Amino acid sequence: MKFFIDTASLSQIKEAQDLGVLDGVTTNPSLMAKEGISGEDRVRRHYVDICNIVDGPVSAEVIATDFADMVREGEELAALHPNIVVKVPMTRDGVKALKHFSGKGIRTNCTLVFSPGQALLAAKAGATFVSPFIGRLDDVSTDGVALIESIRTIYDNYSYATEILAASVRHPMHIIQCAEVGADVATCPLSAITALFDHPLTTIGLEKFLADHRKAASVKA
Ligand code: E4P
Repeated sequence: MKFFIDTASLSQIKEAQDLGVLDGVTTNPSLMAKEGISGEDRVRRHYVDICNIVDGPVSAEVIATDFADMVREGEELAALHPNIVVKVPMTRDGVKALKHFSGKGIRTNCTLVFSPGQALLAAKAGATFVSPFIGRLDDVSTDGVALIESIRTIYDNYSYATEILAASVRHPMHIIQCAEVGADVATCPLSAITALFDHPLTTIGLEKFLADHRKAASVKA
């Protein structure tokens, strides 16, 4: 499974990149705003800065909501850097835009997906990635991981190439559950990725190995 980091923070992206397990980045307008990035030029420079850190897909979301403007904005975003993936919302115009971009060889990420039917439409339109928001479903007492499982079945039934990018991941168990049901990618906060490293028995085991090594060395001396 690929790991993307879900942030616009350059320091967090660098930290995740240094871990050696990062495959890409997703952003959205809220994450850009959180970092204080605003204005078209500033936003676009920030995308390029991210692309220069991570050699993998970097999702840049269109702000336009009608087809013609989405196409114009998406093509401009795609021209910024070869790593850019144009992120398009799951709307009627969005699906038309996905189809357009797919015909032009521009990679896309269909965002704000909350149902198997929406994921089916995104795949039919040729989306490169589909982003089911599992945490936001859990927030409204609906099983987010079950949605990933359902999309996996549908895509496998018809051999759709669209990759399932589990989004709105909140904690390490989401990552494990998504891996169990066959998500292709999980986009996660840095904290959820780093939490995977830790286990108390690893810490205790390593302390014991090192203590035994020191003991043996002192006996020999
Ligand atoms: C996906 O690409 C989105 O940026 C993101 O995962 C949304 O997560 P949230 O529900 O934590 O805002």
